[in-house]
Amino acid sequence: MDTLHSILNLLLPPLTIIFLFLFYPFYLLIKLVICLHKHLHFENLSGKVILITGASSGIGEHIAYEYAKKGAYLALVARRKDRLEIVAETSRQLGSGDVIIIPGDVANVEDCKKFIDETIHHFGKLDHLINNAGVSQTILFEDFTQIQDAKPIIDINFWGSTYTTYFAIPHLRKSKGRIIVITSSTANLPLPTESVYSASKAALLRLYETLRVELSPEIKITIAFPGYISTDMTTPNFIEKYGSDLFLSESVSRCAKAIFKGIGRGETYITEPYWMKFIYLIKIACPEIFDYVLNYLFFRYGKPYYKRD
Ligand SMILES: *[C@@H]1O[C@H](CO)[C@@H](O)[C@H](O)[C@H]1NC(C)=O
Repeated sequence: MDTLHSILNLLLPPLTIIFLFLFYPFYLLIKLVICLHKHLHFENLSGKVILITGASSGIGEHIAYEYAKKGAYLALVARRKDRLEIVAETSRQLGSGDVIIIPGDVANVEDCKKFIDETIHHFGKLDHLINNAGVSQTILFEDFTQIQDAKPIIDINFWGSTYTTYFAIPHLRKSKGRIIVITSSTANLPLPTESVYSASKAALLRLYETLRVELSPEIKITIAFPGYISTDMTTPNFIEKYGSDLFLSESVSRCAKAIFKGIGRGETYITEPYWMKFIYLIKIACPEIFDYVLNYLFFRYGKPYYKRD
């Protein structure tokens, strides 16, 4: 068996490079044709039932508005009931025929079961599950006063999506539906002061890539990687720690529109802003250079003000 590994170690590097040079252009061509086809075949969302977690603000709220404009029915989930009521009312005005709100905490497994049960009880089906609820804490890893304080980030971001998805799967199989997970560009790229947050998003990425294989072809999975988006979650954190909002931020409505378009076209991955995809390619191709530049930028510009001397 060990000889086999030696042979593979020797053969795979040149074979992969030859493969990339010879076949990758054809692969890109086929993808281009499929992409054009997808542009012409946007999913008809009228009357579809969409459950969105973390719908009270940020990307979740704005994705709800995009679905509402297409006449989809919405089940909106978040902890803040008063905020959900406002989002529900706006969604009705934008064109959604029926909106329910289900207040609750995704970190609580009973609540996650309730989100799915109440949606099925009210609408009789579920077409899209959008796992969006998430929190972040902008802090250097060594600056956690107690490391247990990092636990809610994983409980909400990772377990919240995982629990809800578990209860939704039987219904999504019936409807041949779609699961959408809002991860982050930090699922692929490290970001100083977001270590545990990034880890929670990387865990989601691998979970849903595995589920995509397990649940295919009945249930489709779209994984979105938003970059730095100005929301209630990110902006106060950054202003508190860095004294200003990040200059690379993108507006939440632009981001939500891009993600929504990607979902309607049935994309497997959505990177928004698109250019972040190429940063990821650079990281894969030359990780040492990526780390060096990130470290330089962080200590030059980004180091939280309370650490600057
Ligand atoms: C979209 O679906 C709705 C509900 O099933 C249907 O009434 C409508 O005709 C469809 N629209 C198109 C453009 O196919």
